[in-house]
Amino acid sequence: MKVLVLPGDGIGPEIVAQAKKVLNALQKDGLDIELSEAPLGGAAYDAYGAPYPEFTQKLAREADAILLGAVGGPQYDQLDRPLRPERGLLGIRKDLNLFANLRPAILYPELANASTLKPEVVSGLDILIVRELTGDIYFGQPRGIRVNEAGEREGFNTMLYSESEVRRIAHVAFRAAQKRGKKLCSVDKANVLETTEFWKEIMTDVAKEYPDVELSHMYVDNAAMQLVRAPKQFDVMVTGNIFGDILSDQASMLTGSIGMLPSASLDQNGKGLYEPSHGSAPDIAGKDIANPLATILSAAMMLRYSLNNEAAAVRVENAVKAVLAQGLRTADIYEAGTTKVSCSQMGDAVVAAL
Ligand code: IPM
Ligand code: MG
Repeated sequence: MKVLVLPGDGIGPEIVAQAKKVLNALQKDGLDIELSEAPLGGAAYDAYGAPYPEFTQKLAREADAILLGAVGGPQYDQLDRPLRPERGLLGIRKDLNLFANLRPAILYPELANASTLKPEVVSGLDILIVRELTGDIYFGQPRGIRVNEAGEREGFNTMLYSESEVRRIAHVAFRAAQKRGKKLCSVDKANVLETTEFWKEIMTDVAKEYPDVELSHMYVDNAAMQLVRAPKQFDVMVTGNIFGDILSDQASMLTGSIGMLPSASLDQNGKGLYEPSHGSAPDIAGKDIANPLATILSAAMMLRYSLNNEAAAVRVENAVKAVLAQGLRTADIYEAGTTKVSCSQMGDAVVAAL
């Protein structure tokens, strides 16, 4: 199996280096993968003048799975839009048809106090957000900034979903729910937006094929409220690209730190891009203080979903649980009575726990 590593920008290279340590340790134990590396985002712009250059495209298309750090940084904010790091990320998602984004939010018992919500509200939390990743207002045409007939400047984007796009993400979400608590909540804004009214209609139709899954619908504003009021009512949530972007950041903080949350972005055949749900954190880049656990847990998801190695995935997840149980914490999840460690020390500890 070919695994492409894309360190990216900001803290990306530091956190990816820790996940690589973990993969290298598994290789010594017989995991048969071949690792290669390429730039994406700002790093790719610096090297090749484009955020998703041909060099990276070629390796990405050939790979069975891709592990990404994060992209973006303030030094790239003034670039033309098509050259910005974020376009590299959106570009690779679209190029590889990675339409299904799985973002689990799990609260590790040891971190109950790291959440800003009361422990009783979040303890035992285990939600999966299924976010559609290659459609919606992120990619809909037309889009842009123009001068209107009245001579005033205006910005515009298009929220758009085709039936096949909604159907395929619905199937991913229903199947995920079947493997978990058999509850699926579809999030929309059907009271205002036709696109999401249509989304709701298709979800309801696909539900007929999954009689064992209980489907509910919720408006996105209410879902945002319910996520902080009583998040444990949710099992699997499915939603479009823009709502999923927002709700998954919100869900992540229920678990104490966005530094803990992995994600998988999958195509129809199980090929996937795996990345932490957090960004490139330029403010702490190069300081060796970032939390590498989301990236290490993303590598575990990669082992599970693209490399079909459940045993290795569980081994990595158990190693992460073990270091938390040992009281080791990076700065973002540190609290009195625990031991503060650096990014690289955390990586070493996970390898030792393996
Ligand atoms: C995410 C990020 C990206 C998104 C950005 C960096 C383009 O926020 O993966 O959630 O909006 O999808
Ligand atoms: Mg986001």
